[in-house]
Amino acid sequence: MGTLSRESRHPLLPALAAQCCGLIAVGLPTLVFFPGLLKHGLLLAMLQGGIAAMASRAMGAPPWWLAIHLAFMPLAVLARMLELPPWLWAAGFVLLLLVFWRTDRSRVPLFLSSHGAAETLLALLPSRPCRVIDLGCGDGALLRHLARNRPESRFVGIEHAPLPWLWARLAAGALPNLEIRRGDFWRHSLADYDLVYAFLSPAPMPRLWDKARAEMRSGAMLVSNAFAVPAQREDRRVNVGDGAMTYFYVYRPSPGTA
Ligand SMILES: C[S@@+](CC[C@H](N)C(=O)[O-])C[C@H]1O[C@@H](n2cnc3c(N)ncnc32)[C@H](O)[C@@H]1O
Repeated sequence: MGTLSRESRHPLLPALAAQCCGLIAVGLPTLVFFPGLLKHGLLLAMLQGGIAAMASRAMGAPPWWLAIHLAFMPLAVLARMLELPPWLWAAGFVLLLLVFWRTDRSRVPLFLSSHGAAETLLALLPSRPCRVIDLGCGDGALLRHLARNRPESRFVGIEHAPLPWLWARLAAGALPNLEIRRGDFWRHSLADYDLVYAFLSPAPMPRLWDKARAEMRSGAMLVSNAFAVPAQREDRRVNVGDGAMTYFYVYRPSPGTA
């Protein structure tokens, strides 16, 4: 638990430490005892990645860091072997930043709701005109589907990653009942909505539950795609029917709910 809380405050530090572990564990013995191995750069890089990934797990980092550690050094060595120009690294970094923003801090990567999820959510909306928000709306496709099918209702999406936000904003252009905002949904009140939709990750669910209980009005619905709130019984569990055994966890977190 201690490692996890440290990780969420400074998420890049354990990643850096894991990389250093791999570098020292592979680099030192190679330089001192087996310098001939230096010509097998890719092999050494794969070994370094494996050790960094194990160190990362031992430090309690989330599993998705494994892939990053395994790939980081081998990709760097490959790029050197292919003599790729250095600006390509900078461009790649900026592009990733614009698409994923501070995933290391939010611990919510970008992946999109399926069409089946959009249809299932449409069926869950109250039949009267209502207000709906998507926390972290990504490219906004889900909201566009809802807004087209329920023109009398209002839909809001908040997204902090610049490129998905820009895409969602431009694509929403012709829909008068859809508003896309750039920002941090933790700073946005949930008091005005009849339904709050979240497709996040396990990490923010306890905090989201506290926010929903503090802010959502009586009877309003919180619908979480795929990720349940730990230690809370959902009011309904709805199979999204997309073939991937995905569920919506539906809560009514009005104040007073245990
Ligand atoms: C898993 S995606 C879901 C996208 C969309 N809601 C959907 O269902 O297709 C989560 C999105 O939340 C965004 N996000 C994460 N934390 C956020 C925050 N604090 N404020 C705004 N957006 C956030 C991410 O950038 C990402 O685009």
